Amino acid sequence: MPTSHSGRPGFRPANPCFSSGPCAKRPGWSLSGLASAPLGRSHRAKAGKARLEEVIERSRSLLGVPADYRLGIVPGSDTGAVEMALWSLLGARGVDVLAWESFGKGWLKDLREELGIADLRALEADYGALPDLSRVDGSRDLVFTWNGTTSGVCVPDGDWIAPDRGGLTICDATSAAFAMDLPWDRLDVVTWSWQKALGGEAAHGMLLLSPRAVERLEGYRPPWPLPKVFQLTKGGRLIEGIFAGATINTPSLLCVEDALDGLKWAEAVGGHQALTARSRANLAAVEAWVAGSDWVDFLAADAATRSSTSICLKVVDPWFAALGASDQAAVTKAVASLVEAEGAGLDIGAYRDAPPGFRIWGGPTVERSDIEALLPWLDWAYARVRHERAAA
Ligand SMILES: Cc1ncc(COP(=O)(O)O)c(C=O)c1O
Repeated sequence: MPTSHSGRPGFRPANPCFSSGPCAKRPGWSLSGLASAPLGRSHRAKAGKARLEEVIERSRSLLGVPADYRLGIVPGSDTGAVEMALWSLLGARGVDVLAWESFGKGWLKDLREELGIADLRALEADYGALPDLSRVDGSRDLVFTWNGTTSGVCVPDGDWIAPDRGGLTICDATSAAFAMDLPWDRLDVVTWSWQKALGGEAAHGMLLLSPRAVERLEGYRPPWPLPKVFQLTKGGRLIEGIFAGATINTPSLLCVEDALDGLKWAEAVGGHQALTARSRANLAAVEAWVAGSDWVDFLAADAATRSSTSICLKVVDPWFAALGASDQAAVTKAVASLVEAEGAGLDIGAYRDAPPGFRIWGGPTVERSDIEALLPWLDWAYARVRHERAAA
């Protein structure tokens, strides 16, 4: 019976937001910080355009993106950016796709059922594991997620990607960018959104292209039609304006202002290294707790693949293991609801397609002290739900 830490905790996190998207606003965030957004103005006027360019420039410099890579703001959040890349670039060669949780499986489904890529190799793994990365063939295009947000499993590095590859690598890095190191020379397309590591407002995507990705765009026309919001070229040439703040369609200048707020905060706390360190400290807090727990463990089977942003946990208590699948889901849901009702942690249930468990966002906008304040509530709530169910 897990009773080790089951007393009612004495205090709550200062900020109980642990959702994996939209994620916690940065410490000290306030709506009044957005007061100088040029609302009601055209995004193509000087003020709006300058802000869009500023988001691009500050993002580039924080991330240390190579000077010859293009970075643009695109519609449809991270999904929009990924789909734009898939639809614009693929079909020229065979494609390898890595799928080990919900988002990667979603890209696989689109490649197979929507684009109908004939020469497609799916390298798959179950929740908690990674596919065999050594099977990736550098002569083929590759689609993968850097951090599997719904299983808390990320690739450990980019060493398995050939530096002299012939194919393009398309990387969905939305829950990794600004929290993990990304090896730019191994990545040809990288995407992310604003609402993850820097806690911005949602709706807009970022699309990063290597010179080789641009070369493909300019030299290849896919056999399927491309909707206007996916079009990156005109007359066979890259639309350079997209990468200088001239967006394809209308962005929200309130969201833009908020993205800038997050980027400036990131610079003020010490840049990319500091952001990564903040996220790793959050993971370390959970690791220390898990090490002393008799009922919970990481979903990630290998510590080297443990995500520091979307920290996913499973229940290993034998009482829980003996329950049927729907009872297990009911227990973890009841625990998450109890923690939420106490105002101690919001949105900590596992993703809807993932095995029953918990997911705690540990990105850089989350304070380690808040994670440390949350964990005793999980102990308390689990012990309480277990006790009530066992007695029923
Ligand atoms: C890995 C991954 N890909 C894609 C998405 C979808 O992102 P968006 O809602 O920004 O389109 C998410 C959202 O959590 C994600 O974690």
